[in-house]
Amino acid sequence: MSNTSYDTYRENVAGRADVEDTPELVAYYKELDALKTGALWTVANKIEPWQPKSESVPVLWRYRDLRDHVLRSVDLVTPEKAGRRVIYLNNPGRQDVSAAVGWLYSGLQVMHPGEAASAHAHSSSALRFIMEGSGAYTIVDGHKMTLNANDFVLTPNGTWHEHGVAAEGTTCIWQDGLDIPLVNAMEAGFYAVHPDLQQAVTHPIDDIPAIWGGKGLRPQEGNWTKPYSPLYKYEWAPTYEALVRHSKVTDGSPFDGVLMHYVNPVTGGPVMPTIGASMQLLRPGEATQAHRHTGSFIYQVAKGSGYSVINGQRFDWTERDIFCVPSWAFHEHANASASDDAVLFCFNDLPVMHSLGLYREQSLAENGGHQVVR
Ligand SMILES: [Fe+2]
Ligand SMILES: [Fe+2]
Repeated sequence: MSNTSYDTYRENVAGRADVEDTPELVAYYKELDALKTGALWTVANKIEPWQPKSESVPVLWRYRDLRDHVLRSVDLVTPEKAGRRVIYLNNPGRQDVSAAVGWLYSGLQVMHPGEAASAHAHSSSALRFIMEGSGAYTIVDGHKMTLNANDFVLTPNGTWHEHGVAAEGTTCIWQDGLDIPLVNAMEAGFYAVHPDLQQAVTHPIDDIPAIWGGKGLRPQEGNWTKPYSPLYKYEWAPTYEALVRHSKVTDGSPFDGVLMHYVNPVTGGPVMPTIGASMQLLRPGEATQAHRHTGSFIYQVAKGSGYSVINGQRFDWTERDIFCVPSWAFHEHANASASDDAVLFCFNDLPVMHSLGLYREQSLAENGGHQVVR
């Protein structure tokens, strides 16, 4: 193309690339193009921004808008044909990689009583957060776990896993969270279908939380060296109880209220190498201060209602709604109720940020620490 511009990213700042196109330079750039090369100064300011520039946009997915569509998929496709009946969250800025935000994937999956998906394994790490219904279960490497609303279960990288709903249960919907876009960006994704399509349950049902779920306790026989948490299932009731107890003796964080991380009980670190998760409680009327940090975050409202301001945009949420906070976006959360607490489940790529030395955080200094809503 004759009108190609190579100086789009010029910056008139000392130390930054600021080269104006000339006919001679453009001819030179084209010769470089032909050799599958390029002059760094034509792209340097683009590929090395002053600070993170997320392509993701903040989005609120309202459950009342999505639920009927999720349920409709049951009539439209069978789990055998679809593999998994999932409506995925497609961030307008990340449609090229099917991400909900940043390098995280998320979707809403539905299953009827008596249905079961085939067993499989993949190099993506995954979690599920149960939204509604009874009788859901997940089997991970022969360990079957029963699941109720607001329970959170891991299916780590490389494990055989399958999901289903007991015949005597009700239609279940849950949120899936995976690092598929990250794994694909690393060009490291593998997928395998179990040779028998289903796996045998080789341990007593719910043995995992019985062995590893003791608060502040570690089993004597617990010899665990895998890079992810042996506690595959984190139940809602003890999590909520811990938050309530915590909230009675501390103010928590000015930016997060009372927030607790789900941890690997062996290491105290994140539940999986690439995905972290937390649950946070906002007391009645509580409004946090704004800050921003690297990392991508997907929230689901486990309880209550309120709003979050993300990069100056207000999103009002209620139970079961999902919203995302892109990397380096200012955010603050508020509980709109004067009498009830609000609780937010969150999963994120913080373990990646921390382990690669890329985590940074900054509070908002102006306006009393609150954003001006646009
Ligand atoms: Fe899976
Ligand atoms: Fe934050």
